[in-house]
Amino acid sequence: MTLARTGPIGALEAVDFRYPDNSRGLVQCTLALQRGSRTVLLGPNGAGKTTLFLHLNGILRPQRGTVQFDGAPLDYGRPGLRQLRSRVGLVFQNPDSQLVSASVREDVSFGPCNLGLDRVTVSRRVAEALAMVGMVDQADRPVHALSFGQKKRVCIAGVLAMEPELLLLDEPMAGLDPAMQGELEQLLDRLHRRGMTIVMATHDIDFTYRWADQVCLLAEGQCRAQWEGAALPEVRDQLRQWGVGVPQVIQLHRLLVERGVIPATVPAPRSHEALQRLLAPRTGTAKG
Ligand SMILES: Nc1ncnc2c1ncn2[C@@H]1O[C@H](COP(=O)(O)OP(=O)(O)OP(=O)(O)O)[C@@H](O)[C@H]1O
Ligand SMILES: [Mg+2]
Repeated sequence: MTLARTGPIGALEAVDFRYPDNSRGLVQCTLALQRGSRTVLLGPNGAGKTTLFLHLNGILRPQRGTVQFDGAPLDYGRPGLRQLRSRVGLVFQNPDSQLVSASVREDVSFGPCNLGLDRVTVSRRVAEALAMVGMVDQADRPVHALSFGQKKRVCIAGVLAMEPELLLLDEPMAGLDPAMQGELEQLLDRLHRRGMTIVMATHDIDFTYRWADQVCLLAEGQCRAQWEGAALPEVRDQLRQWGVGVPQVIQLHRLLVERGVIPATVPAPRSHEALQRLLAPRTGTAKG
């Protein structure tokens, strides 16, 4: 194992970026992504989440500061970027920015074909990726005829077919139906167990608390705070101040502690299901 393999998989160091119209993208933005972690980027609209993702896969280049992947600064030459994009997959916030081909199958094949993989491997990867997002029966449909949520699924499949080491998802749940959101969450858990590092930008604070190992709060182009996912109950005042919301289960847990239903020594569980399990025997006793 090399030294780089033990450090962060991706990092920004004091990155400044302004768009051509002088809009602030990132300001002295510093962030390290732990290898194998599930990280959530929180932050209000315009905080710089998408801009940060575009830096991590080399679409945007910092005007000051550095971006690193796997222990080395990004190589912005054509072969360097090509290699980077085979290892860092970005699912765009807007599916229309990502979809390039006429049919679903062609679109999902696009990335793996560009990697120079043989035909058998490409079709295996495409079939697996389409199955993962429940789009096998839509494989031959034209992309333009799909609904917004279906387009998002195709985008996710296209990136998964690349089998990246670092998966960046820019608000992937937005526009997906609840069943697909649940399936995507399970899929991300499977990918995480296989060792993939996953970073997601989302406004869903309940999902964040349930899922994230690391939470990074972005505001005005800067990473202003970083917490362990499990520590969110302790920083709820800060979450409120930053306007990103407090997870419902943390609010409920606090209410139940205040009413004496749960002892204050019991930590806030990370999901409604876990809270229900916590309450089940007590409810039983009360009825009895
Ligand atoms: N193509 C662009 N040209 C000019 N300014 C841009 C462009 N894209 C983003 N910006 C500006 O950069 C800042 C950061 O935008 P960014 O899209 O990174 O925010 P975000 O955190 O992803 O927001 P959201 O939650 O709405 O997706 C905003 O002020 C935005 O107006
Ligand atoms: Mg965005």
